[in-house]
Amino acid sequence: MNIQGQAALVTGGGSGLGEATARELARLGAKVAVLDVNLDNAQRVAADIGGVAVRCDITDTDSLQNALDQAAAAHGPARILMNIAGIGTAKRVVGKDGNPAPLEDFAKVINVNLIGTYNASRLFAAACAKLDPLEDGERGVMMFTASVAAFDGQVGQQAYSASKGGLVGMTLPMARDLAQHGIRVCTIAPGLFATPLMKQLPEPVQASLAASIPFPPRLGKPEEFAQLAAHIVSNTHLNGEVIRLDGALRMAPR
Ligand SMILES: NC(=O)c1ccc[n+]([C@@H]2O[C@H](COP(=O)([O-])OP(=O)(O)OC[C@H]3O[C@@H](n4cnc5c(N)ncnc54)[C@H](O)[C@@H]3O)[C@@H](O)[C@H]2O)c1
Repeated sequence: MNIQGQAALVTGGGSGLGEATARELARLGAKVAVLDVNLDNAQRVAADIGGVAVRCDITDTDSLQNALDQAAAAHGPARILMNIAGIGTAKRVVGKDGNPAPLEDFAKVINVNLIGTYNASRLFAAACAKLDPLEDGERGVMMFTASVAAFDGQVGQQAYSASKGGLVGMTLPMARDLAQHGIRVCTIAPGLFATPLMKQLPEPVQASLAASIPFPPRLGKPEEFAQLAAHIVSNTHLNGEVIRLDGALRMAPR
């Protein structure tokens, strides 16, 4: 798909990988709606790139539908959905106190990362399926953001890995399902990226994480993620695929 002039939605666009993707799509000529639960951040990014900011909680269907409607009112119907919003926590199955981990903590991560992404995607797909086809019969493209933790999750990452593994598992059936509408689905599974989340860690921890990456031995740049996200949009033959973007990193158990 030619990105120029298309309306794009970026969830989690107020920070980190989402912010970089919103900036890259705008640079390539897309009209970008920055959807984030943190409106201040969404507004900061949108103001910079000439996009629109919409407060949106991907766990809430009304909030999502409202965001899609507001974005469409500003830019016309979207053909690009970048699902990047997500949260991460780590929790031992059995805590130091011998008690089982709270079930709500597990459910919350699944609800945001997996169910929230599915919810945004199904609403986007229903609207996108009504649009006129472009070249090759293509109507739209969506991306999920998994993690290498979907494959090599570390101690305590049960919920996070399950949520991201769910996105990996959903990629091919969703691509097959939406093929009849000309909507593609791809997933990026990032390794370790230098986002605000990561920058909160002490410098020695960041350095040791960076050193664990075979090549290049540094944290990924959000711009590198954004480059691949934009490539997924522009390369119409990419579909139903999960792409690791990790410098050959394989996470150790802890
Ligand atoms: N940074 C990394 O190294 C890394 C590695 C693998 C996967 N990821 C994944 O990439 C994505 C982005 O991560 P990041 O590092 O940029 O994090 P980040 O915290 O900088 O950005 C995440 C954004 O999502 C928003 N968000 C959270 N919950 C939301 C909700 N319910 N509705 C709408 N927006 C919500 C936050 O407000 C924030 O702006 C996440 O899905 C994360 O799991 C990141």
